[in-house]
Amino acid sequence: MATIAIIGPGAVGGVIAGWLTQRGGHTLTLCARRVLGKTVVELSSGPVTLTAGALTDPAAAHPVDWVLVTTKAYDAAGAAAWFPGLVGPATRVAILQNGVEHRERFAAWLAADRIVPVMVDCPAERPAPGRIVQRGAIKMAVPQGEEGGRFVELFAGTPLAVTPVADFKSAVWRKLCHNSAGVINALLLKPAGVFQDEAIGRLAREIVRECVAVARAEGAVIEEGVPEAVLAAYRAAPADSVNSLQADRAAGRPMEIDARNGAIVRFGRKHGVPTPCNETAAILLAAM
Ligand SMILES: NC(=O)c1ccc[n+]([C@@H]2O[C@H](COP(=O)([O-])OP(=O)(O)OC[C@H]3O[C@@H](n4cnc5c(N)ncnc54)[C@H](OP(=O)(O)O)[C@@H]3O)[C@@H](O)[C@H]2O)c1
Repeated sequence: MATIAIIGPGAVGGVIAGWLTQRGGHTLTLCARRVLGKTVVELSSGPVTLTAGALTDPAAAHPVDWVLVTTKAYDAAGAAAWFPGLVGPATRVAILQNGVEHRERFAAWLAADRIVPVMVDCPAERPAPGRIVQRGAIKMAVPQGEEGGRFVELFAGTPLAVTPVADFKSAVWRKLCHNSAGVINALLLKPAGVFQDEAIGRLAREIVRECVAVARAEGAVIEEGVPEAVLAAYRAAPADSVNSLQADRAAGRPMEIDARNGAIVRFGRKHGVPTPCNETAAILLAAM
């Protein structure tokens, strides 16, 4: 049994908190930036009310066994403000965020060996304050090894699929290949149905092709046919489904553009791989 603090109990953090609450055994603390009222998480198994202690002041935090960071990537500095209180000599910090730079993003505050990067596939939404909804099966991947194994143990007894993988780099780049095309929804402010359009489909394939080329230059193993598979997945999604980039833009929040298409551009530059579609999309979105 472990003491666990979740920094950023939004959609992903709330659903993880919901499953850990249902599981029982661990001692949970929710670290939020505003007061959390009663929060009900609609898990795939039914509703759970979060009963964990909640903090809004980093100065009130005490060291725990595990810190799970589930803020958006652009809120890394805010999340890090909790580390002085939560992180003791034996604390491990798991970063449950999108992108391929989990350790780099927190390098200013934590040594790389304290961080467990997590590839998180957790369809979830927060449609209203106090209501969090799980929208699909949860899959997570961590690097194989002692720390990854300990992270997996936290979720024993839950239906969450947490897998240690030998090739973590390929796992996060595959996820980024999928996420890269979602920039189109944010640019157009149109949900997944827009991918049925042929020209949009061609653009989506090109965006993903660039990501595949950069991923391979980085050393990730990406199978043939990924651009086509990504497009097929977007086309198979409910026409009204909205990704988080689009939702963030529509709500006037910052967007994870630097962690997603911006990262493709930056790594592309490092390897001399051209990324004109991703760069155009990232520039336009950043300027909006
Ligand atoms: N949602 C999904 O379906 C999904 C799926 C896969 C991966 N992801 C990735 O998972 C990560 C989390 O996404 P999400 O959808 O869960 O985001 P989210 O719903 O926006 O939740 C982020 C939470 O972090 C909180 N926060 C921000 N700064 C904070 C601080 N300084 N201290 C404490 N809390 C803070 C936010 O507070 P406020 O309530 O004040 O905004 C919010 O509750 C992202 O990298 C995302 O790309 C999401």
